Amino acid sequence: MPDVQQPSNLTRLDAFWMPFSANRDFKQSPRLITEAQGLHYTLDNGQKVLDAISGLWCSSLGHGNKEIAQAVYEQIGKLDYSPSYQISHELPFKLSERLLSYLPDSFGQTFFVNSGSEAAETAMKMALAYQQLRGKKDKVCLIGREMGYHGAGFGAISVGGIPNNTRYCPNLLQHVDKLPAVSSKFKFHKGEQPEDKSQADALLALIDKHSADTIAAVIVEPLCCSAGVLVPPAGSLKRLRSICDEHDILLIVDEVITAMGRLGHPFSSLDRYGVVPDIIITAKSLANGVIPMGAVFTQRKIYDAFLNSSETLVDFFHGYTFSANPAACAAVNAVLDIYERDGLFYRVQELEVYWQDAIHSLKGLPFVEDIRNLGLTGAIQITPDPNAISGSRTLRLFRACLEAGVMARANGEVLALCPPLIIEKEDIDRIVEVLAEQLQKLQ
Ligand SMILES: Cc1ncc(COP(=O)(O)O)c(C=O)c1O
Repeated sequence: MPDVQQPSNLTRLDAFWMPFSANRDFKQSPRLITEAQGLHYTLDNGQKVLDAISGLWCSSLGHGNKEIAQAVYEQIGKLDYSPSYQISHELPFKLSERLLSYLPDSFGQTFFVNSGSEAAETAMKMALAYQQLRGKKDKVCLIGREMGYHGAGFGAISVGGIPNNTRYCPNLLQHVDKLPAVSSKFKFHKGEQPEDKSQADALLALIDKHSADTIAAVIVEPLCCSAGVLVPPAGSLKRLRSICDEHDILLIVDEVITAMGRLGHPFSSLDRYGVVPDIIITAKSLANGVIPMGAVFTQRKIYDAFLNSSETLVDFFHGYTFSANPAACAAVNAVLDIYERDGLFYRVQELEVYWQDAIHSLKGLPFVEDIRNLGLTGAIQITPDPNAISGSRTLRLFRACLEAGVMARANGEVLALCPPLIIEKEDIDRIVEVLAEQLQKLQ
């Protein structure tokens, strides 16, 4: 590949198969990140770039935080690894208590995992097993949502609904059905879409179709970030909750992105939407992206069903080598210390309107088809280029913004934004200024 611009110290760019990436395209003009501090990345050409996507929706405290680094360093020096199969260490017990203190008393347990994908697989397995353990043998069906995203595992792609994620994948979970995608009925709408009953009516129709006796659980995100920040109509989650209650169906809420202050509270389902799920999953910002860490929070009734009814010595044949890894637990503790001390769970409440107005000021610029936002997230929907493969124009915009000093995320026809919670208003202004300049020049 003689015409490829190879960063000087790399001999083989094809050695790393980059996930969810246009590998061919990247390797024609590679750009590497070399350092990160606060809100900024440094690229291999020395350029400083403002991180407007919190890494990948995960570095909510920004980068290079010394308190997290110190906590992880000390923990590795004291206890670097402990299994949690049949023996464990004290950190996950204490950390679980701390995390559960943000949730209602009916939540009694945390199951630690390493990613959002693992959290989703774990939650769905728990839900299916719970129904079996309580004698509801026919409750085997899972309901997801079109355009939903819960990770890359087989369970997650089966209940998720982003079409490319199941491309070339003929084997998926059986007994799955889906709610329709959240649609943005009103373009350029600020924040939540107006109240309507479309999601609730769709769930009732699925219950009619399959019978509630066959449905184990519904899994949804409060805000569909990966699909392009699709914002459900007001009241949707609450209505889904009450239908699930009425029909004895578990509700799993995927807060992989929306927990940890992203929507202005520790957990958005509870504090923003007033909904108590049966299972909540999170990951991403839990350890600020420093170390892989995810968690599944369950209502006590689920744990009790396993402990009281399991016919085997081991109650749940599930887990991961790195579940409750000591360094990851230490990282989460340090992250929570910072959130609590600096009021970061609630910071979005101060910034949300400023952020919303700032990104909606891009309305009317070339190729801007829609703008959506909620909490400290946002999406600019870009008109596809009719002469190029889908997503090309957004990728060009992403590159141009990067060159101009702002990193967003190009995802299909959407440029997604999710700045760190420590951002200041002048940084928001800078993001919008760069986006506006680059949109003006976009072809
Ligand atoms: C809502 C949601 N759930 C699950 C996942 C999967 O998380 P991970 O990439 O850590 O496996 C993601 C990732 O973007 C997500 O946005």
